[in-house]
Formats: sequence, C-alpha cells, structure tokens
Amino acid sequence: METLRAIVVFIHLLGFATLFGAWLAQAVGGKREFTQLMNIGLAIAGLAGLALAAPWGITWTPGMSFYIKITVKLVVLVIIGAMIGMGMARQKRGEKVPAGMFWSVGALTLLNAGLGYFWH
Ligand code: HEM
Repeated sequence: METLRAIVVFIHLLGFATLFGAWLAQAVGGKREFTQLMNIGLAIAGLAGLALAAPWGITWTPGMSFYIKITVKLVVLVIIGAMIGMGMARQKRGEKVPAGMFWSVGALTLLNAGLGYFWH
C-alpha cells in the first residue's frame, strides 16, 4: 500500500511538472498563452491529489491540519482551472490573456506545490 501511495505521489508530481513546465515555456520566451498541456497537467495533479487526499498507505493518523491543507489545495486548483478556462475562452475570441491572470496561474501552481511539500 505504501509503495502504491508513493507511485500516486510520483504521478501527482508528474502532473505538477507538466502544468508548471507548460506554463514556464509560455512565460519564458513564449507567447504567454494558456495551452491544452496545462489543462492536462492540472487534471493529472488533481486526480492524483484527490486519491492522496484519502488516508491510505500511511502509517500516521492525519490530523485536522492535513484536511485543511488538502481543502486549501483543492480550492487553489479550482481557481487555477477557472483562470485557464477563462483565459482560453479569451484566446478563442482572439483576445490576449491578461498579464495578471497569466502570472497568477504560475504563482498559484507554485503555491500548491509548496503547500504539498512544506505543510506537514
Ligand atoms: C495545481 C495543483 C497541484 C500541485 C501543483 C500539487 C503539487 C504537489 C507537490 C509538489 C507535492 C509534494 C509531494 C512530495 O514530494 O511529498 C504535493 C503533495 C500532496 N498533494 Fe498536491 N498538488 C496539487 C493539487 C492537489 C490537490 C487538488 C490535492 C487534494 C485534493 C492534493 C493533495 C496532495 C497531498 C495529500 C499531498 C501529500 C502527499 C503525501 O505526502 O502523501 N494536491 N502536491
């Protein structure tokens, strides 16, 4: 069970890498647009995250702080998804993604990674 959880954490990290990598490629030298790859990374991180939200394959008993952490992460994920969705709708209309919206997706992705890594 612990090995399986470690594999799901790895898949979760692949989702993070896909989302953040796709965003970074757009931020540095790209057109600062949202891409389908970001949605794919978000979906992978989200699905694996939901699987990890249940307390299986761990030897410790999760306290209130674990559940607060995953609730915050879920809210942040929904905000990221909403911003990518709104930005892509603008792109379809031929408009540019507002700078604040573009940079927020990168910042919130890092925030969720930081919450997962540092908040124990
Ligand atoms: C953009 C979305 C997300 C990103 C980038 C992200 C990123 C990360 C990262 C980098 C870790 C650290 C893994 C480690 O080395 O221990 C982590 C852990 C974790 N994440 Fe996420 N995450 C996201 C969304 C979510 C969501 C939506 C949930 C739950 C609903 C979630 C639940 C967890 C849990 C439970 C852990 C701890 C895993 C463990 O130690 O067993 N994550 N996340």
